[in-house]
Amino acid sequence: VRIAILGGTGDEGRGLGHRWALAGHEVLIGSRVAERGAQAAADINEQLPDGVPLVSGSDNLTVAEAAELVVLSVPYKAQEPTLDAVKDALAGKVLISVVVPLKPPKVSHVWQPPAGSAAQEAQQQVGEGVPVVAAFQNISAVLLPDPEHEIDSDVLICGDRKEDKAVALKLAEDAGLRGIDAGPLQNASVVEGLTAVLIGINIRNKIKHSGIRITGVGEIGG
Ligand SMILES: NC(=O)c1ccc[n+]([C@@H]2O[C@H](COP(=O)([O-])OP(=O)(O)OC[C@H]3O[C@@H](n4cnc5c(N)ncnc54)[C@H](OP(=O)(O)O)[C@@H]3O)[C@@H](O)[C@H]2O)c1
Repeated sequence: VRIAILGGTGDEGRGLGHRWALAGHEVLIGSRVAERGAQAAADINEQLPDGVPLVSGSDNLTVAEAAELVVLSVPYKAQEPTLDAVKDALAGKVLISVVVPLKPPKVSHVWQPPAGSAAQEAQQQVGEGVPVVAAFQNISAVLLPDPEHEIDSDVLICGDRKEDKAVALKLAEDAGLRGIDAGPLQNASVVEGLTAVLIGINIRNKIKHSGIRITGVGEIGG
């Protein structure tokens, strides 16, 4: 799949992009500045073995236009302007949001935007023709760079249609993670909020990588 990662110059998008490239996807890194996107792509390519498709990079609009699937990986405060800049390129594509709404300085306190979640706010902004799926909010970026490292955390996936969530479930699997259908998009409020809880747990335990596991689910994607 040709995947554009808006804000893929940051640690979260870059780490996911690296893992998806290893799984054989064509990854396009987006940035506000085309050169920064290209540089981040070149950095990932240096770490890729021969035989996997090379990552490329450009500005957010260019990569969104070229992609079949778009991932939003910018800070919450950048979500609205970033989507505004690419809106016309999203029609008919699934938008996967990894965004966590955090309200500095108390980033370990759950805070919900007026729409309920950043993902629902994104859905309101892009309109019904672009299904939004929330995923990867609980996966710490520090765990992503080493693809050999097994990540002890599940990916909770929220969206209103099964077929759109199936896309995110496959991407979780391709990144070496277990995805779990966590219900409709409105449930993203809890999943996004969980990240603030994890940040607090990280601070209190002086770690950077707490995660969540759902017990009792047998099969991958179950
Ligand atoms: N880091 C984690 O451990 C983690 C874990 C789970 C979820 N998340 C969520 O994933 C998203 C990305 O995380 P990240 O750590 O990769 O974020 P980040 O490094 O702070 O930002 C990602 C990219 O967004 C763009 N950006 C930053 N500020 C912006 C602004 N004011 N306006 C427009 N674009 C801006 C930048 O790209 P350009 O300058 O190249 O345009 C930046 O490289 C966030 O919503 C975060 O909450 C992060």
